[in-house]
Amino acid sequence: MQHLTESSVTERVLERISDCPDPRLKQVMTALIEHLHEFAREVALTPEEWKAGIDFLTAAGHVTDEKRQEFILLSDTLGLSALVDIVQNRSRSGEATESSLLGPFYRRGAPELPLGASIAGDTPGEPILVHGRVRSADGKPLAGALLDVWQAAPNGLYDLQDENQPEMNLRGRFRTDQSGRFRFRSVKPSSYPIPFDGPVGAMLRALGRHPYRPAHIHFIVAAPGYENLITALYIAGDPYLDSDAVFGSRESLVVGYRPGDGKESGAPYREAIEYDFVLAPAAETAAAVSGDHPQTGGRSV
Ligand code: BEZ
Ligand code: FE
Repeated sequence: MQHLTESSVTERVLERISDCPDPRLKQVMTALIEHLHEFAREVALTPEEWKAGIDFLTAAGHVTDEKRQEFILLSDTLGLSALVDIVQNRSRSGEATESSLLGPFYRRGAPELPLGASIAGDTPGEPILVHGRVRSADGKPLAGALLDVWQAAPNGLYDLQDENQPEMNLRGRFRTDQSGRFRFRSVKPSSYPIPFDGPVGAMLRALGRHPYRPAHIHFIVAAPGYENLITALYIAGDPYLDSDAVFGSRESLVVGYRPGDGKESGAPYREAIEYDFVLAPAAETAAAVSGDHPQTGGRSV
């Protein structure tokens, strides 16, 4: 029998996967094993700490179901989701709009609404207009692009989390007009805490971190021949912009409210957000997303 030492245990494990027939799986697992072992050596991980880690993952499994995904929340709060997204978009041209986390509150099947319609129904809040254009990096307006929009109510809750909100509240899909323009009405979003009543919340508390995301509106923007864009617009001045619990906010995605006159959509709003989305051509990144919606497109979680 071979004698195992701190370093030889890593080699022994790697030998066991030397015949792995899938080269990518072998590459990923080799790096994972090497980094995990190096981590344990570097911090001299004790059996009690290792057990605490196993208990944490077990608890995350226990609270995870179709409505709650604690492992994605863990990945988000550790910055891994943001990193995977940034790596995926490494080769994308600087012109294209930056992406941002999809998050766990996206729902397929939001109603397709006419331009100018409100997604807020009777939700109390300060009315706003959100408008702009969808275009290609070389400035071509993209007519018929589909924007899938969703946000939390001013009370910080998505419809999925709040039994007082109707089905599909604060969600809608809009198609750009002939000049690539879109507009819809809503109410001002507010910052909100990510679910923090489970093991990830306990981890944040133990680390002295808050669970808040800055106020934002989510978008998936899709047009044939272009990569689906999963992103969000963040509201200027929000106190959590620089400390987003899930590392989703980006400077290029920060927007301010401008005074509005209510005329554009024939309905009252006091302030407006204007933003132009720039889509990258489908072939630009290695794993271009196809299909009408990208939740499983490998781009972002
Ligand atoms: C969200 O913005 O909806 C979100 C993103 C990551 C974790 C929790 C919520
Ligand atoms: Fe959100």
